Amino acid sequence: MTVIAVSSCAASAVLGVCGFLLICLWPVIFDNLMTLRNNSLIYRYWKNDQVDIHANFYFFNWTNPEDFYDLSVKPKFEEVGPYSFLQKTEKINITWNDNGTVTFKQKKFWIYQKQNGGVNLEDPIVTLDPVPLIASYLLRDWNYYTKKAVSMTLSPFFRKHYMTQSVGNLLFEGYPEPLIKIAAATPMFSHFELPNWDAFGYFYERNGTSEFEGTLNMGTGENAPLGYIHSWNYQNKSKYYDDACADVRGSAEQYFPRNLKKDILRYFMPDMGGNANLTFENEETVNSILGYKYVIGERTLDNGTNYPKNRCVCTGECVPSGTINVTRLRHNLPAFASLPHFYQADPYYVNLVDGLEPNKSKHEFYLIVEPTTGIPLKGNVALQANLLVQPVSGLSMFENAPKFFCPIWWVSYSFEIQQGDSLSVTAAGRRSLKEGLKAEVATDVPEQA
Ligand SMILES: *[C@@H]1O[C@H](CO)[C@@H](O)[C@H](O)[C@H]1NC(C)=O
Ligand SMILES: *[C@@H]1O[C@H](CO)[C@@H](O)[C@H](O)[C@H]1NC(C)=O
Ligand SMILES: *[C@@H]1O[C@H](CO)[C@@H](O)[C@H](O)[C@H]1NC(C)=O
Ligand SMILES: *[C@@H]1O[C@H](CO)[C@@H](O)[C@H](O)[C@H]1NC(C)=O
Ligand SMILES: *[C@@H]1O[C@H](CO)[C@@H](O)[C@H](O)[C@H]1NC(C)=O
Ligand SMILES: *[C@@H]1O[C@H](CO)[C@@H](O)[C@H](O)[C@H]1NC(C)=O
Ligand SMILES: *[C@@H]1O[C@H](CO)[C@@H](O)[C@H](O)[C@H]1NC(C)=O
Ligand SMILES: *[C@@H]1O[C@H](CO)[C@@H](O)[C@H](O)[C@H]1NC(C)=O
Ligand SMILES: *[C@@H]1O[C@H](CO)[C@@H](O)[C@H](O)[C@H]1NC(C)=O
Repeated sequence: MTVIAVSSCAASAVLGVCGFLLICLWPVIFDNLMTLRNNSLIYRYWKNDQVDIHANFYFFNWTNPEDFYDLSVKPKFEEVGPYSFLQKTEKINITWNDNGTVTFKQKKFWIYQKQNGGVNLEDPIVTLDPVPLIASYLLRDWNYYTKKAVSMTLSPFFRKHYMTQSVGNLLFEGYPEPLIKIAAATPMFSHFELPNWDAFGYFYERNGTSEFEGTLNMGTGENAPLGYIHSWNYQNKSKYYDDACADVRGSAEQYFPRNLKKDILRYFMPDMGGNANLTFENEETVNSILGYKYVIGERTLDNGTNYPKNRCVCTGECVPSGTINVTRLRHNLPAFASLPHFYQADPYYVNLVDGLEPNKSKHEFYLIVEPTTGIPLKGNVALQANLLVQPVSGLSMFENAPKFFCPIWWVSYSFEIQQGDSLSVTAAGRRSLKEGLKAEVATDVPEQA
């Protein structure tokens, strides 16, 4: 309703003095609305996000782990899910700085959305056991005989290369895992900076905590562009990547620059410890507001073959395009992030396993942003976690293992701004006023001639 009111006001603006004033004043009003300060319009959105973010998790159930050593049989996976959560973010430790930036931390909460029938968090999942994998990865380049000796010492601890755990345990609950703490305390492993955990879960200890997301310094719109990230954990370089790939730059937190161009949108993801260059795909209308759609595509995921600037994604050994090596970020777990089902990746990945089917409509990573205001209209931030399995000589469990990127889970965070919502009204109003102004100029000219 309010959208219509604003739009029709924009139309009448061509006629009335009220409208004329509104057009003149709009940039001032708008700047005020879109500046982050205590109790401005967007403060409320920012402090505790008001737009619902749906987090849907999917797991890959490994159906033939017994065939692991039979190199003629591909590992086969069955997707299960979605396990649905509502994600809430709360900004804490907010400090307003004199230079037009704000420094803060954030707490994220995941609220489980129980479905009737279908899946639930007790569902058992057969998946790769990450602990032996970490060990094999750390030892991979050691002397053969040392590895043999270590392998024998550790063998009583090692179970199998796979395990069965509930979805709840694999995500937030965690399951007891004494080996990580033992390894962290072992002098042999001390320089690897292993975490001091006594349990393991991919989102263990992340619900309601702020450590994982780090401390951000962000522009408020006052002398520094709104949403622009200047530093993460007080550094302008991420320690998890090299060279230009480590730059802490770009927008985060759902605030984008105004007057967007149809090329690149730099997006910083604390989750990934780094940023991604999204590329413009096309124009798309959301709730009758025109937006620009930016995606993670072939260009973002290239390993430097076609876009030499991307060379820096190769930290250490390089892999085919389509995955980002997040081993350093994940405490030496050989983890590689990709789009779900290796969408937009080199077919190499999908061909090493059975059961994955990349599909644009399901697995796309995109953000649709209103270009004049930078207000996001709709998005689907989707990522998959994979672990690299490879043969390691001297370690009995992995000596004859196949090499493949084992898919573990994927998540999509999706949102869509609602019609009538005040941000949506701001985006629509700004746009139609701009068009109203253009229309006025256009109709004025012939009338006066
Ligand atoms: C953040 O605020 C909490 C209390 O509100 C305080 O205990 C904590 O020390 C603060 N952390 C930082 C890094 O300032
Ligand atoms: C702004 O000032 C704060 C506090 O002094 C500082 O931490 C931050 O790095 C500064 N940001 C920029 C972009 O200069
Ligand atoms: C996360 O914490 C919130 C608040 O304490 C709680 O309501 C929610 O159930 C927790 N989510 C999970 C997945 O444990
Ligand atoms: C995963 O696979 C195992 C064994 O094949 C099966 O028992 C289990 O029910 C499956 N899990 C789900 C959630 O379908
Ligand atoms: C990053 O920080 C270093 C020192 O900490 C400084 O010399 C450099 O200018 C900063 N770069 C940018 C782009 O702000
Ligand atoms: C990302 O885009 C910016 C300019 O928009 C460019 O300077 C930078 O090199 C790009 N980074 C990569 C890795 O392509
Ligand atoms: C991944 O990153 C780690 C840590 O930077 C590096 O040692 C390794 O060579 C990289 N590539 C692969 C394929 O493991
Ligand atoms: C980089 O990616 C391309 C395309 O996926 C692949 O052909 C090439 O082997 C990769 N380079 C390295 C060093 O792995
Ligand atoms: C992709 O998924 C959609 C929605 O489930 C389905 O309609 C379509 O047929 C799939 N496309 C391919 C190529 O499998």
